[in-house]
Amino acid sequence: MSESVRIVEVGPRDGLQNEKTFVSTADKIALIDRLAATGLRSIEATSFVSPKWVPQLADATEVFAGIERRTGVSYPVLVPNLQGYERARAVGVEEIAVFSAASEAFNRKNINASIDESIARFEPVLDRAKADGVRVRGYVSTVLGCPYQGEVPLDDVVRVSVLLHRMGCYEVSLGDTIGVGTPGKARAMVRAVAAEVPVAALAVHFHDTYGQALANVLACLEDGVRVVDAAVSGAGGCPYATGASGNVATEDVAYMLHGLGFETGVDLDALAETGRWLAGLLGRDTGSKVGRALAK
Ligand code: HMG
Ligand code: MG
Repeated sequence: MSESVRIVEVGPRDGLQNEKTFVSTADKIALIDRLAATGLRSIEATSFVSPKWVPQLADATEVFAGIERRTGVSYPVLVPNLQGYERARAVGVEEIAVFSAASEAFNRKNINASIDESIARFEPVLDRAKADGVRVRGYVSTVLGCPYQGEVPLDDVVRVSVLLHRMGCYEVSLGDTIGVGTPGKARAMVRAVAAEVPVAALAVHFHDTYGQALANVLACLEDGVRVVDAAVSGAGGCPYATGASGNVATEDVAYMLHGLGFETGVDLDALAETGRWLAGLLGRDTGSKVGRALAK
């Protein structure tokens, strides 16, 4: 049996959060249901953040209530604080993701808190999650560079990753928020973190601003990472990271993984069709090369 890689589809959350025109709740629900039908097993559905900060995802409750929740598929959501946790639980969320950063400057812009304040804010959320049997993922942003601070020391990436893992995150996703990383730096970063957090508990999350994302994914796979975040059609970006562009496209990641002999459970044709459908909805061409190739 071939080895498998779990793709965490972040299109409905990261892919949409930066869209200026409101995507209807019905379309968001349709996107998530279509993605689940392609065989994806982890689909980040939405964010229970402040609607003032991310208006596009103000309908998180309605979206989560409206999706068909398939057995065997997890639907994590972003939660920044207890208020978000309570909103998420009220609609039956069973997996959440908390998020911090390796850069103080970015964290301040993104969640209006220092790194240590954000970790302290997550403590009661993790306590509640543990008591409720809710699984928690943790994100570390700006692991390969910050739009405000520039270089980010590896020690800071390691420190925040360890904090999130120790406090109970079953997985820590390492985010190149602005897509500035290159494969050698990505590999060195993963190695540094993997010296303190088991590599089986790490995921990678690359934005593709400089076209390096797929190469970065490969470098990290070679170092043992087996969980990859991606967004269908390459959608995405963080509203609080100047210059950030879309995530690596899920179609491109799946195509590469299948070519390398990894099993993903994903039906690539169905995924590519969903990516083209989403791009059409957003009024643009798909950002996935595989998605374009399979359309011919
Ligand atoms: P704040 O303004 O410091 O918070 O924001 P506050 O506690 O003072 O609350 C301000 C208002 O927001 C209050 O309402 C609260 O009730 C409300 P008011 O009294 O003014 O009417 N509020 C909420 N409402 C609904 N749900 C909540 C919530 N919390 C407060 N959960 C806060 C602090 C963390 C809330 C804010 O900064 C925030 O929501 N930030 C989220 C930003 C965000 O979503 N960024 C994008 C996701 S991260 C990302 O994309 C990176 C990633 O992809 C990895 C990578 O690429 O690196 C994950
Ligand atoms: Mg992101």
